[in-house]
Amino acid sequence: MTNVSEIRKKTKLIVKKYSGDKSALIAVLQDIQEAFNYLPKDALAAAAKALGIPVSRVYEVATFYTAFSLKPRGEHVVKICMGTACHVRGAAAIQDKMERTLCIKPGETTPDQKFSLETVNCVGACALGPVVVINTEYHGQMTMAKVDKIIGKIKEGGAQS
Ligand code: FES
Repeated sequence: MTNVSEIRKKTKLIVKKYSGDKSALIAVLQDIQEAFNYLPKDALAAAAKALGIPVSRVYEVATFYTAFSLKPRGEHVVKICMGTACHVRGAAAIQDKMERTLCIKPGETTPDQKFSLETVNCVGACALGPVVVINTEYHGQMTMAKVDKIIGKIKEGGAQS
Protein backbone atom coordinates (compact mmCIF):
# COMPACT_ATOMS: atom_id res chain seq x y z
CA MET A 1 0.00 0.00 0.00
CA THR A 2 1.31 3.43 -0.93
CA ASN A 3 1.89 5.68 2.07
CA VAL A 4 0.94 9.34 2.35
CA SER A 5 4.44 10.77 1.88
CA GLU A 6 4.94 8.62 -1.19
CA ILE A 7 1.60 9.82 -2.60
CA ARG A 8 2.57 13.46 -1.97
CA LYS A 9 6.00 12.98 -3.50
CA LYS A 10 4.66 11.33 -6.66
CA THR A 11 1.96 13.98 -6.99
CA LYS A 12 4.49 16.82 -6.70
CA LEU A 13 6.57 15.24 -9.46
CA ILE A 14 3.49 15.00 -11.67
CA VAL A 15 2.60 18.65 -11.11
CA LYS A 16 6.21 19.61 -11.77
CA LYS A 17 6.00 17.85 -15.14
CA TYR A 18 3.36 20.42 -16.10
CA SER A 19 5.40 23.27 -14.57
CA GLY A 20 2.71 23.85 -11.97
CA ASP A 21 0.34 25.12 -14.67
CA LYS A 22 -3.20 25.43 -13.24
CA SER A 23 -4.76 24.83 -16.66
CA ALA A 24 -3.17 21.37 -16.75
CA LEU A 25 -5.41 20.14 -13.92
CA ILE A 26 -7.14 17.46 -16.01
CA ALA A 27 -3.83 16.13 -17.31
CA VAL A 28 -2.46 16.14 -13.75
CA LEU A 29 -5.48 14.15 -12.54
CA GLN A 30 -5.09 11.69 -15.43
CA ASP A 31 -1.46 11.12 -14.47
CA ILE A 32 -2.33 10.73 -10.79
CA GLN A 33 -4.94 8.15 -11.69
CA GLU A 34 -2.47 6.34 -13.88
CA ALA A 35 0.05 6.28 -11.04
CA PHE A 36 -2.34 5.02 -8.34
CA ASN A 37 -5.20 3.57 -10.41
CA TYR A 38 -7.53 6.02 -8.65
CA LEU A 39 -7.37 9.51 -7.16
CA PRO A 40 -6.24 9.25 -3.52
CA LYS A 41 -7.48 12.16 -1.37
CA ASP A 42 -3.91 12.94 -0.28
CA ALA A 43 -2.90 13.27 -3.92
CA LEU A 44 -5.79 15.65 -4.61
CA ALA A 45 -4.80 17.81 -1.64
CA ALA A 46 -1.14 17.78 -2.73
CA ALA A 47 -2.09 18.63 -6.33
CA ALA A 48 -4.26 21.55 -5.19
CA LYS A 49 -1.43 22.90 -3.05
CA ALA A 50 1.20 22.50 -5.76
CA LEU A 51 -1.03 24.10 -8.40
CA GLY A 52 -2.12 26.89 -6.05
CA ILE A 53 -5.83 26.21 -6.49
CA PRO A 54 -8.56 25.37 -3.95
CA VAL A 55 -9.06 21.67 -3.13
CA SER A 56 -12.76 22.21 -3.89
CA ARG A 57 -11.88 23.05 -7.50
CA VAL A 58 -9.84 19.85 -7.80
CA TYR A 59 -12.78 17.81 -6.46
CA GLU A 60 -15.15 19.60 -8.82
CA VAL A 61 -13.14 18.39 -11.81
CA ALA A 62 -12.39 14.96 -10.32
CA THR A 63 -16.07 14.23 -9.74
CA PHE A 64 -17.28 15.74 -13.03
CA TYR A 65 -15.53 13.22 -15.27
CA THR A 66 -16.69 9.63 -14.92
CA ALA A 67 -13.26 8.43 -16.05
CA PHE A 68 -11.89 9.51 -12.68
CA SER A 69 -12.34 7.32 -9.64
CA LEU A 70 -12.13 8.54 -6.06
CA LYS A 71 -12.35 4.99 -4.79
CA PRO A 72 -9.41 2.56 -4.85
CA ARG A 73 -9.73 0.26 -7.82
CA GLY A 74 -8.39 -3.15 -8.59
CA GLU A 75 -5.31 -3.89 -10.62
CA HIS A 76 -7.52 -4.58 -13.66
CA VAL A 77 -10.43 -2.26 -14.36
CA VAL A 78 -13.10 -4.03 -16.42
CA LYS A 79 -15.45 -1.63 -18.19
CA ILE A 80 -18.54 -2.97 -19.90
CA CYS A 81 -19.94 -0.70 -22.57
CA MET A 82 -23.67 -0.22 -22.08
CA GLY A 83 -24.09 2.26 -24.94
CA THR A 84 -26.97 1.72 -27.36
CA ALA A 85 -25.04 -0.21 -30.04
CA CYS A 86 -23.53 -2.57 -27.48
CA HIS A 87 -26.82 -2.85 -25.60
CA VAL A 88 -28.70 -4.12 -28.66
CA ARG A 89 -25.92 -6.63 -29.25
CA GLY A 90 -26.29 -8.19 -25.82
CA ALA A 91 -24.21 -6.08 -23.42
CA ALA A 92 -26.61 -6.86 -20.55
CA ALA A 93 -25.89 -10.59 -20.88
CA ILE A 94 -22.14 -9.87 -20.95
CA GLN A 95 -22.51 -7.76 -17.82
CA ASP A 96 -24.41 -10.54 -16.11
CA LYS A 97 -21.77 -13.08 -17.07
CA MET A 98 -18.94 -10.78 -15.93
CA GLU A 99 -20.68 -10.20 -12.58
CA ARG A 100 -20.98 -13.95 -12.05
CA THR A 101 -17.39 -14.61 -13.16
CA LEU A 102 -15.85 -11.94 -10.92
CA CYS A 103 -18.49 -12.24 -8.14
CA ILE A 104 -18.88 -8.46 -7.97
CA LYS A 105 -21.35 -5.85 -9.21
CA PRO A 106 -20.48 -2.67 -11.15
CA GLY A 107 -18.80 -0.18 -8.82
CA GLU A 108 -17.22 -2.95 -6.76
CA THR A 109 -13.70 -4.38 -6.46
CA THR A 110 -12.83 -8.01 -5.74
CA PRO A 111 -11.53 -8.66 -2.20
CA ASP A 112 -8.08 -9.54 -3.60
CA GLN A 113 -7.97 -6.09 -5.30
CA LYS A 114 -7.41 -7.78 -8.65
CA PHE A 115 -10.53 -6.59 -10.53
CA SER A 116 -12.91 -3.66 -10.47
CA LEU A 117 -16.07 -3.74 -12.54
CA GLU A 118 -17.65 -0.67 -14.13
CA THR A 119 -20.27 0.07 -16.74
CA VAL A 120 -19.67 2.91 -19.17
CA ASN A 121 -21.43 4.51 -22.10
CA CYS A 122 -20.20 4.34 -25.67
CA VAL A 123 -16.44 3.84 -25.83
CA GLY A 124 -16.33 4.70 -29.53
CA ALA A 125 -16.01 1.21 -30.97
CA CYS A 126 -19.70 0.54 -31.74
CA ALA A 127 -19.00 -1.65 -34.77
CA LEU A 128 -17.22 -4.10 -32.46
CA GLY A 129 -20.06 -4.36 -29.95
CA PRO A 130 -20.57 -5.68 -27.44
CA VAL A 131 -17.34 -4.17 -26.18
CA VAL A 132 -15.47 -4.67 -22.91
CA VAL A 133 -12.43 -2.53 -22.09
CA ILE A 134 -9.95 -3.99 -19.64
CA ASN A 135 -7.50 -1.35 -18.48
CA THR A 136 -6.73 0.18 -21.88
CA GLU A 137 -7.32 -2.88 -24.04
CA TYR A 138 -10.50 -3.19 -26.11
CA HIS A 139 -12.21 -6.55 -26.50
CA GLY A 140 -14.88 -6.58 -29.21
CA GLN A 141 -17.67 -8.98 -30.17
CA MET A 142 -17.73 -10.28 -26.64
CA THR A 143 -19.34 -13.61 -25.89
CA MET A 144 -19.79 -15.62 -22.68
CA ALA A 145 -16.92 -17.87 -23.73
CA LYS A 146 -14.66 -14.87 -24.34
CA VAL A 147 -15.39 -13.56 -20.83
CA ASP A 148 -14.18 -16.85 -19.35
CA LYS A 149 -11.15 -16.94 -21.63
CA ILE A 150 -10.01 -13.34 -21.03
CA ILE A 151 -10.59 -13.32 -17.27
CA GLY A 152 -9.02 -16.76 -16.98
CA LYS A 153 -5.88 -15.55 -18.75
CA ILE A 154 -5.59 -12.47 -16.54
CA LYS A 155 -6.01 -14.59 -13.42
CA GLU A 156 -3.23 -16.86 -14.63
CA GLY A 157 -1.10 -13.77 -15.16
CA GLY A 158 -1.06 -14.13 -18.92
CA ALA A 159 -1.91 -11.73 -21.75
CA GLN A 160 -5.36 -10.15 -21.88
CA SER A 161 -6.46 -11.10 -25.36
S1 FES B 1 -22.10 1.66 -27.83
FE1 FES B 1 -20.50 0.41 -27.14
S2 FES B 1 -18.81 1.17 -28.24
FE2 FES B 1 -20.42 2.45 -28.87
